[in-house]
Parts: sequence; C-alpha cells; structure tokens
Amino acid sequence: MLSKELFGTTSYGVPVTLFRITNQNGISVAVLNYGCTLQSVCLPHHGAPIDVCLGYDTIEAYETNDGYLGAMIGRYAGRIPDAALVLDAHRYLLCRNDGVNHLHGGRIGFDRHVFRASTSENSVEFSYTSPNLEEGYPSTLSVTVRYTLTENDTLRIECEGIADGLTVWNPTNHAYWNLNGHDSGSVLSHTLRIAADRYVPVDRNLIALGYEKGVDGTPYDFRTAKQLSDGFLTNEIRASSGYDHCFVFSEGEAELKGNCGIRMQIRTDCKAVQVYTANFLSERFGKHGAVYRPHDAICLETESRPMMRIGTIPEESQLFPFQRKTHCTEFRFIDE
Ligand code: GAL
Repeated sequence: MLSKELFGTTSYGVPVTLFRITNQNGISVAVLNYGCTLQSVCLPHHGAPIDVCLGYDTIEAYETNDGYLGAMIGRYAGRIPDAALVLDAHRYLLCRNDGVNHLHGGRIGFDRHVFRASTSENSVEFSYTSPNLEEGYPSTLSVTVRYTLTENDTLRIECEGIADGLTVWNPTNHAYWNLNGHDSGSVLSHTLRIAADRYVPVDRNLIALGYEKGVDGTPYDFRTAKQLSDGFLTNEIRASSGYDHCFVFSEGEAELKGNCGIRMQIRTDCKAVQVYTANFLSERFGKHGAVYRPHDAICLETESRPMMRIGTIPEESQLFPFQRKTHCTEFRFIDE
C-alpha cells in the first residue's frame, strides 16, 4: 500500500512529498522526492514499532544539515582526488567541496535536488536529468532511482543511469542505520558481517591510496560476524575515529545485527561497500526530538570501488555514451 503527503516546501519554494509504502507485515518505509531520501524504516517489532533509520521531521532540517542523511548520492559517491576527472584525454575540474577534493557529487549533489516521482502499489520511482557540466561532470545524465518494498520484507533500491556522452556514474544510498532504533544512541554494540576479503587503505584525507589490501589479521576482517566495538579497540580504527573505508566484496553480501533481535541482510550487485560509522555526525536534533551524535549509526553504502590517487577510474563506474547501467541493492529486515 502506498500513500503520500506534503512533507514541506524547500527554501526556494518547491513542495516536497513524502511517500509511504507499507507491506502486509506492517513494515513501512518513507521516502522523499527531495534527494530521493529514505526518511524512515519502521518495523512493527511485536507491537512496539522501531524506526531503524536516522532522519529529520522537516525539510528545513534536510536543507540545512550536513551528513547526507538517507539521501541518494550522485553523480559519484565518495571522494575524487583533486576534484579532477580525466576522461578520453580531457581533464574536467569538478566542484571542490571537501578541501581540494570532490565529495558525494559536489556542493549541490543529487541529495539536494527535488526529483520527479511516479508510483505503483509498492514502489516509487524518482527521476532527474543532470545537465552537462553540472558540478563539473561531463555529459547530460538521466537517472532513475526506484524504491520497492516487497512482501518478504525487503527494501529494494534500483538505480539506473544513461548519458549522451562519456562520463562516470557511481550512485549510492546514504542511509544511517541503527537497528536498536534511530534514537537509541551508539551503534557500536551491533555486529557486522561483510563478505569481503579486501579493503582499500586511505590517507589522512580519506583518499584511496591506490591499492587493495587483504583483510586477514586487520580490523577490517568482518568475514565472520563481529562487534563494531572490537575494531574500536585497535589504534588504527581509533586514529581514524571509526570506520570510514571501502570493502571490496568477494560476494555482494553483508549483514548487520542490532541488540533487540533485528537483523538487516544486504545483497547487492555493487562491487564494494563504504562502511562509515558516522564519525562526523556532529551533535544535532533528529526525528521526534532525538539527539544524534557520532557513532549513533552506521552507513553501508554499496557502490563502486573508489577513485584512486593515481587517477584511474574503476571500470564499473565508467559510463559510455547511451549505455544503460543499473545497480540494485536489497535490504531485508528480519525481526526475531
Ligand atoms: C561518507 C564518507 C565520510 C563522510 C560522510 C558524510 O560516505 O565516507 O567520509 O564524508 O559520508 O558526512
């Protein structure tokens, strides 16, 4: 079942709609056409509903806060060193919105746009055409992002991109998860499993160093489930104030487990996942007066491998003229 309501009006006068999809088991998911933002995921949890996704109650809060809560990231998730893109011997200078680097699509990335929307019984499809050279990216890029909630308690996010010239395309969803509830504080007692035997080391500006490394014997080994707090005992993870790293999948699978019986299984056709333990989530008010602080959530951003310092573009994020590229990630919720 799908319903919609007016969520608010942007500071520049555009109405924003909240779409709510509910399945027969009582799971409900709310998404906004502003940034294709996942605003809430409520699980019935034996009659005491739990909202497992951080967010805000007002459009003003989405417009004024940083952190990309729940948003779709585009055109390119993650950091692009020196904000420089070299394609077909042309050098494009992208917006520098993270020191000298480019982050998450730039100053006005997909997270800040109001998308067109169309709906079905259990899905919402958002679309947007990003003009040539928006935030510096070459070619006109048409994107669609579809959210579907199935009867087997799966939230599916499908993204598609097609451009009129050579470009790059690496979308992700930036939901902040806390399976104990969005307002329940630290997520570090959650356990995480990731089917990844390699990760990408970064420098102190979080730029990928240009190679992948085996997880064996490192705090990045989540091949068997372990508590996030285990990693925080190591100097390495402490020094970076938490996890903010790309894991390269051996199989597109991960699982997050909270402390009250809720699990989230992830399946994806993306090559990698950026694991981010909300290290920069400065104290702020969230939904229903909740206060969010660093490490109160985890983002599991399924995407391509990052651009390396040496300037190579991962093959999976190159988009050739009129090539249609899709990505699909499923989040299945299990409540014991
Ligand atoms: C993450 C990124 C972090 C930080 C965050 C937004 O995807 O890895 O370094 O930029 O987004 O606050």
